[in-house]
Amino acid sequence: MDDYYWDNKIEYLSKTRWLNYNDDYLNFLLRSVWNISSPVRIIDFGCGYGYLGTKLMPLLPEGSTYTGVDAGRKLIDYAQETFQNAPFQTEFILGDIQEMDFDPKYDVVVCHAFLLHVENPKEILRKMINCLVDQGRIICFEPHWISSMASYYLDGHYPSDVVQLGFLQELFERDAQRSGKDGNVGIKLPIYLSQLGVRQIECRVSDRVNFLNPKSDSEENGALYNSLKEGGFGADPGEEESFITNLQNRGASFEEGQKEYRLESFLSQAFNKDVFLTYAPNMKITTGIVER
Ligand SMILES: C[S@@+](CC[C@H](N)C(=O)[O-])C[C@H]1O[C@@H](n2cnc3c(N)ncnc32)[C@H](O)[C@@H]1O
Repeated sequence: MDDYYWDNKIEYLSKTRWLNYNDDYLNFLLRSVWNISSPVRIIDFGCGYGYLGTKLMPLLPEGSTYTGVDAGRKLIDYAQETFQNAPFQTEFILGDIQEMDFDPKYDVVVCHAFLLHVENPKEILRKMINCLVDQGRIICFEPHWISSMASYYLDGHYPSDVVQLGFLQELFERDAQRSGKDGNVGIKLPIYLSQLGVRQIECRVSDRVNFLNPKSDSEENGALYNSLKEGGFGADPGEEESFITNLQNRGASFEEGQKEYRLESFLSQAFNKDVFLTYAPNMKITTGIVER
């Protein structure tokens, strides 16, 4: 698995996760909303380098444990290194979740930006549910791409000059229909969980609104620009013909592909460190309780 896609994305993952949540919001969710006040055994599906572990574990009661599962060998090695001196017990399991079964021994099962990458999200949700004890909690932090795309504001430009929402909405819908992988899965999870028998379902939205401010010379502002770039905003669309062919293969017309190319070329010029930009990722955070 040397050329496994996500193994080569550690930099992207570690530079972009923080765009979604303020730390105080995660603290608020864990302590005041979900009321996790005694130690929990937590398992993270598609853990990557262990992002959720780094954020949630310091907030959980002493004695809590963290298990991460991922198909990326480099990601799992990186996670093992990251957590080697952690003051809590960790375990990292390398494997393809599609092929794995888990014992029902966890109190909390989580995933972050994982379900959108599987072609059978409902079946995977069933696996997640099955690894919980009675009264265990499932928590899914997943994207809702179209609301994310609607939540960029680049100063001095009409939003429709930056993002073609109608076109993207159809593109994402067609992608999901064709592949099963759904970038809008976040908004559907309350429904899926209810259909799978989960109780006490609640869904929230991520809190962070990022503000790129050219008047600020703070370190965070510089990091924000780099993270937005790393996340693909204002990226150079590359060579026109292959860009359009790729969109045509995803069901777009030539004219739609051409318009999108022009828009992304324009954006790659217009987005730089000297512009005001606001952006809310609008992740959806869905939770519920499993009763056996
Ligand atoms: C967008 S990354 C998110 C990683 C991490 N949760 C985070 O937010 O930083 C998606 C992750 O899901 C993992 N993944 C996708 N399909 C998988 C599968 N069938 N089995 C195990 N891991 C999988 C990938 O290896 C990748 O690390």
